[in-house]
Amino acid sequence: MKILVVGGAGYIGSHMVKRLSQLGCAVTTLDNLSSGHRDAVLYGNFIQGDLADRALLKGLLQPGRFDAVMHFASSIQVGESVQQPAKYYENNVTNTLHLLDAMRESGVQRFIFSSTAATFGEPQYTPMDERHPQAPINPYGRSKLMIEQVLQDYDRAYGLKSVCLRYFNAAGADPDGQLGERHDPETHLIPLVLQAASGRRADIAVFGRDYDTPDGTCIRDYIHINDLCEAHWLALQSLMQGAQSQRYNLGNGNGFSVQEVIDTAIRVTGQPIAVRDAPRRDGDPARLVADATLARQQLGWQPQFADLATMVRHAWGWEKQRP
Ligand code: UFG
Repeated sequence: MKILVVGGAGYIGSHMVKRLSQLGCAVTTLDNLSSGHRDAVLYGNFIQGDLADRALLKGLLQPGRFDAVMHFASSIQVGESVQQPAKYYENNVTNTLHLLDAMRESGVQRFIFSSTAATFGEPQYTPMDERHPQAPINPYGRSKLMIEQVLQDYDRAYGLKSVCLRYFNAAGADPDGQLGERHDPETHLIPLVLQAASGRRADIAVFGRDYDTPDGTCIRDYIHINDLCEAHWLALQSLMQGAQSQRYNLGNGNGFSVQEVIDTAIRVTGQPIAVRDAPRRDGDPARLVADATLARQQLGWQPQFADLATMVRHAWGWEKQRP
């Protein structure tokens, strides 16, 4: 299979490129390297380019060149999306429309889209399944929901088949130690905690201890990057076999608090971790946990690394030797 991976130099995209290549796919990565890293693309062809460049897209997506497109490239910081919504609508909506246009022109009819739990907004119940109402509370979540809706319309009108995968909290790293999380600035909990363990930063701030949870800190559903990639592979196969367009929530169904993540990291690393209490971060729901029953039933998805300690161990392996 010939796959175009947009955003293949980023955290999740780079793991996907590796997995697809190992499965025998011919992979081309398109990435503008605004946040990704060229040295994270370990396999296949690499093209540095931007989705805003419509001529580049037209030249790249020649008829017959790709069987499917996986789209990981987007701006992902909730707080920044509130401050700079134009960036989010431009990068996540307009540029995705350009990609979909180029796909239509070249006849590529299968699309795997990185969506997010942020499309749901404040949880009305947990764990959250696909029937949970979608009412995002920030531009980031809205930008992703818009594309989910566009994809429904494009399926009806143009027959474009898509799977939207709504990640809860992607975590961990390549068990081989070749790839991992490398955002700059880093905003995600697990890499920040491990940077506090390795001495790369002084401490970890806990954003709020007054949530309505057992220990007062926020609860999230962490999902190992390889399990996430496996879901993409299964979703792609389902489309290749003629499945209808679908949306899936992806998580393990287990919530862990910020404090539990820190405690796990202390155990896994054997290092002291300095903790600092800080005010709540705007827009953080107390508890986000996925019900991924649909993905298990329809895709046959079975997470292999559901254990938080394993995710932290793999991320620690990366943190100790990352560039
Ligand atoms: N946290 C801290 N200290 C930090 C960083 C995070 O206490 O220094 C807390 C957050 O407040 C939150 C939890 O750790 O309660 C997890 O935070 P992350 O930033 O790691 O992840 P989020 O749950 O905010 O975000 C993830 C994705 C987003 C997506 C969101 C969906 O990274 O892209 O889930 O709700 F939008």
